[in-house]
Amino acid sequence: MAGRLQDKVVCITGAAQGIGAGIAEAMAQEGARIIIGDVNDEGAGALAARIGATALHLDVSSPEDWQAMADHVAGHFGKLDILVNNAGLELVKPMQDHSLADWRKVMSVNVDGIFLGCKTLEAMLRESGKSGSSASVINISSIAGIVGYPDQLAYNTSKGAVRHMSKSLAIEWAAHGDAIRCNSIHPGCIRTPMLEMAVEGWVENGSVPAYDPWTAIAALCPLNRVGMPEDIAMGAVYLGSDESRFVTGIELVIDGGWVAR
Ligand SMILES: NC(=O)c1ccc[n+]([C@@H]2O[C@H](COP(=O)([O-])OP(=O)(O)OC[C@H]3O[C@@H](n4cnc5c(N)ncnc54)[C@H](O)[C@@H]3O)[C@@H](O)[C@H]2O)c1
Repeated sequence: MAGRLQDKVVCITGAAQGIGAGIAEAMAQEGARIIIGDVNDEGAGALAARIGATALHLDVSSPEDWQAMADHVAGHFGKLDILVNNAGLELVKPMQDHSLADWRKVMSVNVDGIFLGCKTLEAMLRESGKSGSSASVINISSIAGIVGYPDQLAYNTSKGAVRHMSKSLAIEWAAHGDAIRCNSIHPGCIRTPMLEMAVEGWVENGSVPAYDPWTAIAALCPLNRVGMPEDIAMGAVYLGSDESRFVTGIELVIDGGWVAR
């Protein structure tokens, strides 16, 4: 039986681990052909070998790396149907401890990286949209792009920018008659290496107790658990597939009810 993403060509950034890896696995299971772009070559290569994907070195903040990605996709796959901008950096410390270099580093990956990816791959996505089924850009923001959290100003601000960039691109492409949909996903707490690191900071600043922080985090969530990468992957499969053909400019919150309270 054909998968929900049968033969679609997908580029996923930051897919060596965590949420991106979960999305890559789920999309491969639905018949997609995956290209993973990550700075972690070893992790990306191992996942690619396991799911039959291609791994390419990509620092999303580098215009040259994005051009190399575009050349590779055009040369080896001949088209691009879905772009998942997932790579991101988290930084947990009070605003007074953010250096300007910290701020710029977070913005360069979380915001510039998505701008560069969309700009560099737009022509291929536009061509794919002419096939009768629209191309899809999926940007991974966060619930921190919707509501504030203490001691992560650069991260929260970057994720707010991702939310708005997604809506602006959705409207720009629609206005120009391009069949490229663009949506953002807003994960809540999802157990990945990034969250493990953030939780250390939350323990330090007293947001969660040092004793059993994971149970405390689960208890803050109405569905009373910490999410897993598969929870986000299910939303990404939907937004990438033709099932969401009338969906653009939305913010898909997948957080167990966290921001609904
Ligand atoms: N885990 C959560 O609870 C959570 C919640 C909300 C949003 N998010 C967002 O989901 C996305 C994935 O998060 P995660 O938890 O899986 O993180 P993670 O740190 O576990 O994985 C991030 C991946 O991005 C890669 N990466 C980092 N910088 C890169 C760069 N410059 N170029 C290319 N790749 C780069 C890393 O090598 C890694 O493979 C991020 O955008 C994050 O902000 C995560």
